[in-house]
Amino acid sequence: MTYLRSISVRAPAKVNLQLGVGGRRDDGYHELASVFLAVSLSDRITLTAAEELRVTVGGPRAADVPADASNIAARAVELLAKRSGLHPGVHVHIDKHIPVQGGMAGGSADAAGALVGCDALWNLGLGRPELLSLAAELGSDVPFSLVGGAAFGSGRGERLTVLPVGATTHWVFATAGFGLSTPAVFAEQERRRRSAGVPWTADGVPSPLMSRKLVDALAAGDTASLADALGNDLEPVATSMRPQLTATLKSGTDAGALAGILCGSGATIGFLVSDGHQARTVAQKLLASGTCTSAHIAAGPVPGPEPEEIITTGENG
Ligand code: C5P
Repeated sequence: MTYLRSISVRAPAKVNLQLGVGGRRDDGYHELASVFLAVSLSDRITLTAAEELRVTVGGPRAADVPADASNIAARAVELLAKRSGLHPGVHVHIDKHIPVQGGMAGGSADAAGALVGCDALWNLGLGRPELLSLAAELGSDVPFSLVGGAAFGSGRGERLTVLPVGATTHWVFATAGFGLSTPAVFAEQERRRRSAGVPWTADGVPSPLMSRKLVDALAAGDTASLADALGNDLEPVATSMRPQLTATLKSGTDAGALAGILCGSGATIGFLVSDGHQARTVAQKLLASGTCTSAHIAAGPVPGPEPEEIITTGENG
């Protein structure tokens, strides 16, 4: 009998409680002040030794994700293999639940899961600093996706400081029937700044600062103050590109949510609610309003990806 060893990891999505966007740098990225929170809406990545690198995708969001070498999880496997002098012979299976082009770092979560999973599968024992530097090469949100919990991100979002959280927060995430491309939303923000005649480059726009009110509310577990302090500079940009998002935001707050906020560059809207019971009520009302296509109940913070070992019998189909 053959035995197959796989590693499976749960890879959580994120919501930005604060997203302050500064000017565009010479390298094309924007200076950010980002407060990240990892939430329980997650993908599951399973890595099994195989002849060659291949990707399969299942789950409710599978149709929207590339099942080939362009997938960021495959790029993570290749990067780690190259860095370790190994052949990237791995079957990566992604069970996709995080909204695609939803601003919730779904691709970054899969990449972080693949890094942690391959580190375990290949018994590399790489330390956190090494995995974080590979993560930053893959994308601005991948370092946070690796760390989980709550953190402040500066630079292009990759320089992290862990933040304390005083209480679990409860959320409803409402998906639109469309996604938004992150580069397109940043480009639209720049176009708006230029046409308003205000500075738009990193030397003209002051670097955004962490909101003290927000991180104090988060640390104290004061959900009402947290709701008050949520803020995303890309929200007016995304709602101007897709005005129907304004109706989604209104439906959630009309349904009793404490606050609504665009997730990252959109198009998912996150609603902060007081508890799990209110989450169910708000989710039902949002769906009934017809202003979203699905509503996911989640809570945060949750930890970053951690490997679980699975031993099965049979072939790696
Ligand atoms: O780093 P990542 O590949 O995830 O970024 C995707 C795109 O988002 C970048 O190409 C850029 O257009 C935009 N971005 C940005 N400033 C950041 C992060 C992302 O302009 N700090």
